[in-house]
Amino acid sequence: MRFTGKTAVVTGAGSGIGAATARRFAGEGANVVLTGRRAEKLEAVAAGLDPTRTLVHPGDASVEAEVEALVAAAVDRFGGLDVLVANAGTFAGSTTDKTSTDDWRKVFATNLDGVFFAVRAALPHLIAAKGNIVAVASRSGLGGDWGAVAYNASKGGLVNLVRALALDNGRHGVRVNSVCPSLTITDMTGGMTDDKELMARFMDRIPLGRAAEANEVASVIAFLASDDAAFVTGVNLPVDGGVGASNGQPRFG
Ligand SMILES: NC(=O)c1ccc[n+]([C@@H]2O[C@H](COP(=O)([O-])OP(=O)(O)OC[C@H]3O[C@@H](n4cnc5c(N)ncnc54)[C@H](OP(=O)(O)O)[C@@H]3O)[C@@H](O)[C@H]2O)c1
Repeated sequence: MRFTGKTAVVTGAGSGIGAATARRFAGEGANVVLTGRRAEKLEAVAAGLDPTRTLVHPGDASVEAEVEALVAAAVDRFGGLDVLVANAGTFAGSTTDKTSTDDWRKVFATNLDGVFFAVRAALPHLIAAKGNIVAVASRSGLGGDWGAVAYNASKGGLVNLVRALALDNGRHGVRVNSVCPSLTITDMTGGMTDDKELMARFMDRIPLGRAAEANEVASVIAFLASDDAAFVTGVNLPVDGGVGASNGQPRFG
């Protein structure tokens, strides 16, 4: 019960890692504010939580005014804000020649602008509470990817945004970290997991030999947001089954 009496906003809480994170925080006593664009997905997650500690506030992470309204609603309902989990994200897989300007901007609008808007709106409240931020970046932000230029660049930007935010806000008592998952079973990867050949290639480079479950990422988010990580800031923590331990050589032996 590390979050009793604390309030967490979780973006992209209607599915996958965000839904698992909302459940995890609620299970550890937090007031949880769930946001995302599809209200019915958020309501379905909220239905399993204590209504006295739950607020559903639908909105688009890439729209500045909607993000500001989200933070205001959270503070209005629960009296403050202790944790921002900036999880909402979108994937676009394509090489440079096949990436339209519109695709590029859409990916950046959610994965990077959206995080910045949420952080900027939340910061005064996080400073007041000596709270913290956990972004959901990606293994894709820690190195190059094949065939996903916009996603790869957006997550790389997010990884450095986390470092910059940690530097700027440490003296205000606000910690800023991210998790960097590799392949995790969620809606985002649903199409990929049906492709047996692609999955076999993925498994070949994951030392633990499997994809992550969303709650295995959520538990690391909860750790970083908790006082158990009170002296941890500016860290982009891989949750990757050991992918980052490789120097890129093919598996043999
Ligand atoms: N699954 C993986 O293998 C993996 C690996 C590394 C990193 N990640 C990252 O993990 C995060 C969560 O993804 P996931 O895997 O859990 O996939 P997911 O189930 O598709 O979740 C993404 C969530 O983000 C929300 N979202 C997307 N665009 C939004 C916007 N503009 N405004 C508000 N909400 C928005 C979606 O809800 P609505 O559509 O209803 O808005 C959805 O609930 C993402 O940042 C993703 O990049 C995933």
